[in-house]
Amino acid sequence: MLEFHSTIQTQFSSHPVPDISHYNQSTFDELFEIANIAQEINLKAQVLLVIGVGGSFLGARAVIDALTPYFKTDAYGVEVIYAGQNMSGAYLNQLLKYLDTKEIYVNVISKSGSTMEPALAFRVVKQYMEQRYGIESKLRIIVTTDAEKGILKEVADKEGYRRFVIPSEVGGRYSIFTPVGLLPIAAAGIDIQAFIDGAKQAECDLSNENLEQNPAYQYAFSRYELYKKGYSVELLASFEPRLNKLHEWWKQLFGESEGKEYKGLYPSTVNYSTDLHAIGQFIQEGSRIMFETLIHFEEVEADTEIPFTLDDMDGLNYLAGRSMNAINATSKDGVALAHEEGDVPVMKIVLPKLDAYHVGYLMFFFMKACVISATLLEVNPFDQPGVEAYKQKMVELLKKDALVIQK
Ligand code: PA5
Repeated sequence: MLEFHSTIQTQFSSHPVPDISHYNQSTFDELFEIANIAQEINLKAQVLLVIGVGGSFLGARAVIDALTPYFKTDAYGVEVIYAGQNMSGAYLNQLLKYLDTKEIYVNVISKSGSTMEPALAFRVVKQYMEQRYGIESKLRIIVTTDAEKGILKEVADKEGYRRFVIPSEVGGRYSIFTPVGLLPIAAAGIDIQAFIDGAKQAECDLSNENLEQNPAYQYAFSRYELYKKGYSVELLASFEPRLNKLHEWWKQLFGESEGKEYKGLYPSTVNYSTDLHAIGQFIQEGSRIMFETLIHFEEVEADTEIPFTLDDMDGLNYLAGRSMNAINATSKDGVALAHEEGDVPVMKIVLPKLDAYHVGYLMFFFMKACVISATLLEVNPFDQPGVEAYKQKMVELLKKDALVIQK
């Protein structure tokens, strides 16, 4: 199913790793409700605005980008756009103008219910929805938050918004298989059942107790081995631009899970071919601190053939008749060889097909490997104490500003 290739010699040892199988346990009723609401959104809206930050939006955006066409077609679900992931006034201003021209639904997602960025965006968007849709705004706003606590839950109850639950034991960056990810993904027209089935298969395959046959352990141990040798940066690389946002999700997953107590690999990402002509020089000949993990899907659904030309003015007739995807795959092999020769260790993760099933499989694989990796580093994969530091400073400054303005 998922092949992991690495030439890095690792010493496997048994480690008690926290179980994350329950991260993929939506009930039949919940999936039914998600599918129904996704259908309703598609009937009544052209745009679903997802408000959230970090683990509350990166996963859905990753899957939607990976599995919907580069150029929007009507064959897929609503357009999914995002707010609350930045504090740009211009972004929000232009977003509202864009929304003016569309029918919309909003899904506001926050486990704590009080994260500043999405809370501010929701305040603006809630008022916009009320002014535009009146009482109907209550139907068009859907909340995903904790079952018991938080301001967002209180708002949802008071306003009578429909609500989905983020299970209390599932942290934001591990929440892609809960309604956090599933509602936006379903609204975008992606088969969530296939996505979940892939994850369930991964969960089963990766519970293999023979660590040497378990790719999640192989990946985690290989990167740990490299870390011990001084390779402190991991580059996640792929050759399909629609995986860019999956990279972003991976970056947050590993960065927030591992980077603590002054330990951890720095997770960075590259998108080829673009980055071969941007950061490729550094990778090949710069500081020797990087290793690379290449993701490759063997089959992508559409392809383009290189045409033959009579004059062969560009000298590329030797490639005529070959498919662009095949050339891309060869370029991947060339990049891996060059980087290995340049002392950049390369690992490869290969999946048969870029579809909902295999993306679900891959995301569960990364979640599992991340928990193993953090366990090897002896850090807690599930907390993010360092993220609080900037929040405290920001709120202090904002309160100070408010006092000055009041005076
Ligand atoms: O992975 C995490 O837990 C974080 O990235 C959170 O998802 C992020 O900080 C947003 O938090 P919340 O969903 O509480 O608004």
